Amino acid sequence: MFRKVIIFFLLCQENNVLCIIPLCSYVTNGVHYLQPFISGDDQHIPLYTGCKPVNSEFNITDTNCDLAVSNKIYLPDSLKSAGENQLQSILKHYKSMNITLIELWPTLGAFGFYTWVYARIFHDETHWIWLNSSSIEFSSTVDSPLNESEYPAPYLPQLLIKSNANDHFEIFTDILSLPSLYMKNVFGDCLWTSANYTNSLNRPQLTKIYSGWLPLEKMNEIDQDLNHNICVVLPQPFRVNGKPYSLFINIKQNNSFQWPSNISWYTIPSPSSNDILKTKPVSDVWYNDLQWPKTFADEWKSNMYRLTGMQPLQYENKTEIYLTRKSSIQTDNQLMNLIDYLIEQYNKLNIQTEKQIFYWRNITQANLIVYIPARGSYRCDEPVVFIDHIDTAFEEDTFDDTGKRRSTPGADDNVSGLIALLQSAAILNKTQENACRDIWLVHVTGEEYPAASLGISHFLQQLFIKKQPIYTAVIVDMIGHRVNRSDPIVQVNAGDTTKSLLVAELAVNYVYPRIKNHLILQNLRPVLRRWSDPFAYLYNTDGVRFVEYGFNCLLFNEHINYHENFEREGYHDTFDTVNLIDFEYGQTVSQYAIATVAMLSHAECRSESCWKEANLVLIAGLSLFLSILYAM
Ligand SMILES: *[C@@H]1O[C@H](CO)[C@@H](O)[C@H](O)[C@H]1NC(C)=O
Ligand SMILES: *[C@@H]1O[C@H](CO)[C@@H](O)[C@H](O)[C@H]1NC(C)=O
Ligand SMILES: *[C@@H]1O[C@H](CO)[C@@H](O)[C@H](O)[C@H]1NC(C)=O
Ligand SMILES: *[C@@H]1O[C@H](CO)[C@@H](O)[C@H](O)[C@H]1NC(C)=O
Ligand SMILES: *[C@@H]1O[C@H](CO)[C@@H](O)[C@H](O)[C@H]1NC(C)=O
Ligand SMILES: *[C@@H]1O[C@H](CO)[C@@H](O)[C@H](O)[C@H]1NC(C)=O
Ligand SMILES: *[C@@H]1O[C@H](CO)[C@@H](O)[C@H](O)[C@H]1NC(C)=O
Ligand SMILES: *[C@@H]1O[C@H](CO)[C@@H](O)[C@H](O)[C@H]1NC(C)=O
Ligand SMILES: *[C@@H]1O[C@H](CO)[C@@H](O)[C@H](O)[C@H]1NC(C)=O
Ligand SMILES: *[C@@H]1O[C@H](CO)[C@@H](O)[C@H](O)[C@H]1NC(C)=O
Ligand SMILES: *[C@@H]1O[C@H](CO)[C@@H](O)[C@H](O)[C@H]1NC(C)=O
Repeated sequence: MFRKVIIFFLLCQENNVLCIIPLCSYVTNGVHYLQPFISGDDQHIPLYTGCKPVNSEFNITDTNCDLAVSNKIYLPDSLKSAGENQLQSILKHYKSMNITLIELWPTLGAFGFYTWVYARIFHDETHWIWLNSSSIEFSSTVDSPLNESEYPAPYLPQLLIKSNANDHFEIFTDILSLPSLYMKNVFGDCLWTSANYTNSLNRPQLTKIYSGWLPLEKMNEIDQDLNHNICVVLPQPFRVNGKPYSLFINIKQNNSFQWPSNISWYTIPSPSSNDILKTKPVSDVWYNDLQWPKTFADEWKSNMYRLTGMQPLQYENKTEIYLTRKSSIQTDNQLMNLIDYLIEQYNKLNIQTEKQIFYWRNITQANLIVYIPARGSYRCDEPVVFIDHIDTAFEEDTFDDTGKRRSTPGADDNVSGLIALLQSAAILNKTQENACRDIWLVHVTGEEYPAASLGISHFLQQLFIKKQPIYTAVIVDMIGHRVNRSDPIVQVNAGDTTKSLLVAELAVNYVYPRIKNHLILQNLRPVLRRWSDPFAYLYNTDGVRFVEYGFNCLLFNEHINYHENFEREGYHDTFDTVNLIDFEYGQTVSQYAIATVAMLSHAECRSESCWKEANLVLIAGLSLFLSILYAM
């Protein structure tokens, strides 16, 4: 049983100070990233500000996080002007009413842009009203790199009444019964109440608010409960240094307002040239050890045929299978068979692998982690993590025509990334000779809808549980397609940290010029896309989860983003097959990503979390010497 909050708000007139129960106190799922319940988009992830999960779990402080003092609220600068504009629109709408407070909080909106959740307004100093989303018009002058139609709209409450059949469907229906491939039920975003605020605009209310933002396991219980009548759909409150939080803005008589003075607005600083210098490998050894096998291109091509199911996968015992079912939600999916095949390939190279098994919807799921240890004289704790996803999406066209959920061959999305990792193993095994950081190749499952970042969420949760920080993640996803075959662009998308920008900077201005002349195509042009760039694509990949938790990350992908090539054929449909693959382009982007990983495992070898392996050799040598002495 969950705790029922009986009184919806308290007005205590002590010294004329209003005591209000903020909506954040109805959050039940404190550290949701550690809960067993891990599926992707079942619930809006809270926006973490100040100390993010990475800071709290690994005890790391940085510029916007002070683990000791916590009286500042750090918010991205873009939220300030967006909020001021939107608040004006809200106040304009309610100008005939006597509004004194607004409760709101920030969240991550569409396309990787931060936006606001406006929950409720306090009227006549007696009662709250949910903001009415269908009647407020937001102005167009929002300061953002996107234009009006694209700017992520703010979130306002949507009230669903359990006794209404349509609303009930929207709250509780299983994903597989929904009429769209990208819909989920809204249960995880519900704040539960007994009645509408809006029934009683002119008098104090006794509406009860129960807990909200519950895990999906609670779904049946709530469905049965007679008191939980109304679901107020809202992305959950944000977290300040890990704690649920909501903001209150005081509205003055003349409709003016001020932000709380303890908000500190920030922009992510670009790395300094000194930082870049300090991060760069001290020598060219990563580059000298980098060798492209003559068969690289041919193998890339045949892997593409095998892993998209055009040709069979052949196991060592000569069994052959064709891969056709690659969505994590299919009970008979072949992702385990695919993993077994990959394990055989890595075993041939004497490389150690680990299956990371977990369950979702009673279906066994697995990520595969492949360890390529560093063998240089310096060794550091944090590995470089190279990531792809092994599942594929359902075909949109098949679903529209027949209502059937059939997984795509996924040649580009994302077999192209899978091949990059598979072929990197032998190459990186060599460059690790002098490296200081281990490389983990991580094949994750369940990136696509409806699983939506399932595999990566489990992987990151395990890092937290094992207290294993990482240096950076390098993600490859959709790297084998060009709408225009003379388009030279490769997108290098950085996460939302200074270190991510630094790593992207090195990929574009250090790695690429160094390796350019040895690549299969020599006329490509990498471009750096920051997290807030409307031409970036990280928001639509597993990379989002890294950003949300505060990890450093980098995504390599083809020229696709909200503005460009987004509506092309072969994205999540039957046409995502080898026929659309630009082989030389995919091979070259693979090479580029592999070279970047090779470089990163040689970066910052003298930093605090590193030590000189030679000492261990010395100690080993010494103990050998002593044992010889002893034997004599
Ligand atoms: C966290 O790090 C600080 C120094 O940065 C150290 O004083 C403290 O003991 C650490 N706490 C834990 C729990 O490791
Ligand atoms: C910010 O200031 C408000 C008062 O203006 C206070 O109630 C709140 O606790 C402060 N928040 C933090 C995180 O210190
Ligand atoms: C708004 O409410 C406050 C507190 O009840 C009151 O002092 C003020 O006069 C009201 N203003 C209007 C315009 O009704
Ligand atoms: C919300 O606004 C719409 C459109 O203006 C209106 O029809 C509706 O009655 C409003 N709902 C409430 C509860 O005020
Ligand atoms: C916004 O940008 C999109 C894409 O660039 C464009 O199609 C649309 O017409 C623009 N809308 C406005 C209002 O400028
Ligand atoms: C909430 O308000 C709506 C619209 O006024 C009404 O149809 C509905 O019955 C109310 N629900 C409850 C539980 O009071
Ligand atoms: C509104 O009133 C406040 C004081 O209550 C004052 O500081 C502010 O300048 C006024 N703003 C406008 C736009 O009149
Ligand atoms: C062949 O090996 C694969 C992978 O290990 C295994 O799944 C399959 O059952 C084996 N087939 C036979 C006939 O042994
Ligand atoms: C990979 O490196 C390990 C450790 O040096 C070595 O044992 C193994 O043979 C290497 N594999 C290949 C294919 O080079
Ligand atoms: C999962 O399996 C268990 C035991 O086999 C069963 O009790 C449970 O109802 C299943 N859950 C779902 C969601 O199918
Ligand atoms: C293809 O890209 C090249 C290089 O950007 C450009 O010059 C050319 O106009 C493009 N062709 C088409 C059909 O868009």
